[in-house]
Parts: sequence; structure tokens; C-alpha cells
Amino acid sequence: MRDAVGLLLVGCGRISGAHLAALAGLEQEIRLVGAVDTDAAAAERTGAQHGVAAFTDLAAGLAAPGVDAVLIASPNALHGSQAAMALAAGKHVLVEKPLAETGAQARELAEAAQRRGLVLAAGHTYRHNAAVATLVDMMPQWGPLRAVEVSSCVFWDGPQAPWWAERTPEEGLILSLFAPHSLDFVQLVMGADDPLRVQVEAARWQGGWQGEDEAMILLGYPGRRMASVHISYNQRSVFDRKVLHFAGGVAEIEDGEVLKWNGGVLVAPPDGVLTNPRAMGGRKLGHFFAQQLREFAAAVRGEAHRLPTGHDAARLIDLIDRVKAAARSTCADAIDPEFVA
Ligand SMILES: NC(=O)c1ccc[n+]([C@@H]2O[C@H](COP(=O)([O-])OP(=O)(O)OC[C@H]3O[C@@H](n4cnc5c(N)ncnc54)[C@H](O)[C@@H]3O)[C@@H](O)[C@H]2O)c1
Repeated sequence: MRDAVGLLLVGCGRISGAHLAALAGLEQEIRLVGAVDTDAAAAERTGAQHGVAAFTDLAAGLAAPGVDAVLIASPNALHGSQAAMALAAGKHVLVEKPLAETGAQARELAEAAQRRGLVLAAGHTYRHNAAVATLVDMMPQWGPLRAVEVSSCVFWDGPQAPWWAERTPEEGLILSLFAPHSLDFVQLVMGADDPLRVQVEAARWQGGWQGEDEAMILLGYPGRRMASVHISYNQRSVFDRKVLHFAGGVAEIEDGEVLKWNGGVLVAPPDGVLTNPRAMGGRKLGHFFAQQLREFAAAVRGEAHRLPTGHDAARLIDLIDRVKAAARSTCADAIDPEFVA
């Protein structure tokens, strides 16, 4: 058996817990070798809990022995520069979504990874379950795809980390933090094509942040195909649904896990995962994170995997740039109409 991939974690905050829990079952494939956080207490806590070295400086972490790969789970604005540093140090990189803040920065990363023969992947976590994988494998049998509808609506009662409140309207809130998941799904099923047309409405309903927290995106793809995406941080009754209209019928993914074809269930989730899918926290996502790390380890070993490539992830950030521009082009106060709350 080959050695497990040695992973350096950068950013020991909220989402690091999901990755660390997932690593616990994957010791043969990928294992933590160090933890970096500018908050020394957070780095040391993670290091002590997992028996690995703790660093407050990324360069020191990258220079530590046994680091093959880096998982970047820091605030969005740092992803591009930290990924560039890790690639320059010859490390494979998995970056939490979004890969970078701009398409130009994301494409530079993808090119750097390709030049160096390194894996660069983005944490599009929601593609890593049986419902999505089965849909992708079966869709060639269902005839041409005409239209896709995605609704992904949750409730966050204000910023979940301090940096959410600091993001400017230009940097984007839900379009940067949540849209990558829904748009990754759309790009996954639309294949190599990017949309020809992008139309967007975005608005801010809550006062705890500056950016948009609700958006509707309408995309026109080559071949008369179309997609709509509704994302929200304002829906207390969590609503997560994907509907795909093929020549042969309708495929649906409910609650991210239940795949149906013309009303019949093709894939059901593992037991105990959908405890109360209409409540925040009523879905267990640990198996998504475990599968993502398994795919990353496979990619690092040069084996087949379902991760987006660096270039695919960069295409997604290019699309997000277009979505943000379209949202702001509607009118001067496009994302901040009269405050309603
Ligand atoms: N895949 C998913 O479903 C999912 C879910 C939540 C968050 N995320 C992504 O994960 C990332 C982190 O989000 P979070 O909610 O954990 O945020 P967080 O603020 O809780 O954690 C970020 C951590 O990074 C640390 N940090 C700040 N600057 C740093 C630096 N220069 N070097 C190293 N560490 C630094 C902070 O001290 C903090 O501990 C974000 O990009 C977010 O979009 C992904």
C-alpha cells in the first residue's frame, strides 16, 4: 500500500471541523500532518487534538516534513494568495469554495498547477454524494437536457464568521459563499459549455452584513438549454431541490440526497442522514466531506476522481464574476433596495 497523503490544514475555524471529522475515517488514504492558523490558540487546539504540529505562519507549515498537500479553509479573500503559495512550494491543493475571488486569479492558479503537474481542486462539496454521481452517470441515457432549476434556500441569522460582515457589496456575500455550490452543479450537468447569457436579480434582506443574501440567476446555454438558480440565506424552512428536464422525462434531487427519475426513487441517502431536512442542521453532511477527501487523495495519486479540475473551478469563478456584474448592472442600488427587515 502507498503512504497516505500528508495534509496541511490552513484555517482551523468553523468548516475545518467537518474536514477533520472526515479525515478520521480515511487514515490509509490521507492524514493530517500539520495545522496553520494566524490565531495561535486555534492552531494549537487543532494540533493538540490531532497530534500534529501547529503553525501560525503558512510558510513554516509548508516547509514542515511530510506535507504533500494543503487544504485551504481560511476566509475567501485569502484563498487565491494562499493557494498560489502552496502551489509554488510544490504542494497539491484543495481549496474551500470559492477557489479565488476573481476569475483572473483562479485561472492563474489553474495554469500554475498545470505547469507544475499538481492537483488543484475546489471544495464543491455538494457534488460528492451518490445522488449527484448517479445522475451524472445516468444522464446520457435520458436524452438531451433542456432545462435545469436549482433552489438552495437556507437561513443564517447574521454572519457565521466575522469576515462575512466585512465583505463589501462588490466582493459579494451569497454570490461568493453559497452560489459556488449551486453553479457548480449547473456547470457539472451542462458539461464543457459556459452560458451565453447571464441575468441576475440580487437583494439584501438582512442588516448584519453588507452584501446580497438572496439571488435569482438565469443562464442561457448553447443549444437552447437554460438554467435557473435561486439561492437564499433567508428561508427558515430549508429548501434544497434540483429539477432537470430531459427529452425522456424529469430527474429531481431532493434535499441534496434523494435522486428521482420520473417520480420513482433511484438513490436514497444513507440511513440517519436526513434527520429533518427542512431545519438548519437537520442534514448530516459528513459523508460529503469524506468522499471529497477520498477523491482528492485519489487525484493526488493520479487515480480516477470526480473533483473539478483547476480549470473547471476557474471557469466557475469566471461565471461568478459574470453573475456579480449582472447583479450590479440592474440599477445603482441593485442589491440594496429599501431595507425591509
Ligand atoms: N464546503 C462547504 O460547504 C463550506 C461550508 C462553510 C464554509 N466553507 C468555506 O470555508 C472557508 C472557511 O469558512 P469558515 O466558516 O470555517 O470560516 P472561519 O472564520 O470560521 O474560519 C477561518 C479560519 O481561518 C483563520 N485564518 C484567518 N486568516 C488566516 C491566515 N492568514 N492564515 C491561516 N488561517 C487564517 C481564522 O483564524 C479562522 O480560524 C470559507 O472560504 C468558506 O467559504 C465551505
